Amino acid sequence: MRNLIEDARPPLAEAMSKMGVDESVWTPLLGRSTVEDHGDAALPCHALSKTLRRSPSEIADEVVSLIGGALDGIADASSVSGFVNLRAQPSWLSRRIEAMMPDPRLGIGLEECRTYAVDYSAPNVAKEMHVGHLRSTVIGDAIVRMLEFRGHLVHRENHVGDWGTPFGMLIEHLLDLGEAEAANELGVGDLDSFYKQARAKFVTEEEFAERSRQRVVLLQGGDEETLRLWRVLVDESMRYFNEVYSMLGVLLTDDDIMGESRYQDLLPVVVDRLGDAGILEHSEGADVAYPGGWVNREGEPLPMIIRKADGGYNYSTSDLACIIDRVERLKCDSFLYVVGTPQKQHFEMVFQVARQAGFMDDGHNAVHVNFGSVMDADGKVLKSREGDVIKLFDLLAEAVTRARAAIEEKNPDLQGEQRERVARIVGIGAVKYADLSTERTKDYVFDWERMLSFDGDTAPYLQYAHARICSIFRKWGGDRGSLSESEISCSLPEECLLARRLTDFPAVVDESTHAYIPHRLCAHLHSIASAFASFYEACPVLSAEEEGTVHSRLALCDLTARELELGLGLLGIEVPQRM
Ligand code: ARG
Repeated sequence: MRNLIEDARPPLAEAMSKMGVDESVWTPLLGRSTVEDHGDAALPCHALSKTLRRSPSEIADEVVSLIGGALDGIADASSVSGFVNLRAQPSWLSRRIEAMMPDPRLGIGLEECRTYAVDYSAPNVAKEMHVGHLRSTVIGDAIVRMLEFRGHLVHRENHVGDWGTPFGMLIEHLLDLGEAEAANELGVGDLDSFYKQARAKFVTEEEFAERSRQRVVLLQGGDEETLRLWRVLVDESMRYFNEVYSMLGVLLTDDDIMGESRYQDLLPVVVDRLGDAGILEHSEGADVAYPGGWVNREGEPLPMIIRKADGGYNYSTSDLACIIDRVERLKCDSFLYVVGTPQKQHFEMVFQVARQAGFMDDGHNAVHVNFGSVMDADGKVLKSREGDVIKLFDLLAEAVTRARAAIEEKNPDLQGEQRERVARIVGIGAVKYADLSTERTKDYVFDWERMLSFDGDTAPYLQYAHARICSIFRKWGGDRGSLSESEISCSLPEECLLARRLTDFPAVVDESTHAYIPHRLCAHLHSIASAFASFYEACPVLSAEEEGTVHSRLALCDLTARELELGLGLLGIEVPQRM
């Protein structure tokens, strides 16, 4: 309730100054109520108790009495256990809704443009994308959409794992299978079995292992034929990844691919610059840097290996090169890495070394936007029935199949192409929402029944609320645009509750965007949809007695639908008109 807080501030300021409390003391205390039942905003007075030498309750009582009628038209103030609770008045809510109605951005302003690199998805070539990559793709996509909506320039960076020693064995295996056959296997997404076969030969057949090692040397030396074979592996894998992306409906395209291989030329530069900065040390033939602050099991400082004794580079070296590239070529000032929590230390160390070496300075903001794992019902990391990594494509296809069945049951009139479209929107939306609505850093349990349920905190529930509103408008038949001029009157408690949540939408989008927490937006959208359900039950819309009431309620319906559509859109989830 940021707007309410803004509007209530002047009368509060007057009361506080009469009590001799400085603005700098009370302003930080004023905030959104933590318990919605208590009010919309609150000023806890406990911290003032010591200076004023009175109990919090007495202070709160006095604030309320000093405010008197000064908050009329804004909020009701009450004193409860040392809190001044503010509850928005219906007339204030009505005016806020009227102000939001004509605004296509629904009160969400543009910000001063920053340049972001959002590093997300990043599967590994010739390996199945796992559910961790799914999370990264879905969360990253939502963050990109939110930032772009606020007017920022966003570079999507898909840092695919497309380089390194495993490519020796992968190329040799490709040759053993025959190019056409291998391409076929990879192109249909049999990445895991391909990788496993190569790996099995590598550990059991010395001749194969030797060939593989030589192949790595050829690859690193830029041998043309080897590079061509490597391209086959990359292209076929990307073809599969792109199928997953298109099924998911994320923004990533081939132009966003910035795999590890793209930074090869920069790796020696990283070494030189770390050397110039005086933070490169030699240790057992390797070049290392010590970020400081980390120790190994023996309690010795933990090095970051930049160049191995055999001349090969590391994952960290690539990430340092990325930073140079993103700062100097892309001119980014913010870097978000949407990568699982297990890589926490990696990123902390990389950021630290990058700062020590001057690749980044105080004007640069680098954040590891970490996330938890996806678990099965038994609390283990989600796997296929055979115990393998789940094929993401199959998982998404199953989501659509299950959604189709649910829709057939709910709305048998929906047929043909339209039903297919809705099944895709609902099925994919359900998977994405289940992922986004859990607090990002926590693990979550993958549960088909729950995510596809039409009740509860799910995409289908929100999509259904939206479709229901569309059907009200079909029945009405009027011009939705004309509602932006409607006079709003919130009187019933259900209208007020809905209006209150609708009013809060811009502030919530703001918080979700800046803290990179899509779940905050999910929770709010769910609270809007459930307030709408109560409103719809208690407040007749088209059959209301007075025309003014019909229009006021239609406007609330309209704003609800628009917030759901925009909010879900920012999360990368579509909304059907019917379902
Ligand atoms: N390919 C890596 C993996 O699958 C993720 C890369 C994340 N991005 C980065 N800049 N390190 O674990």
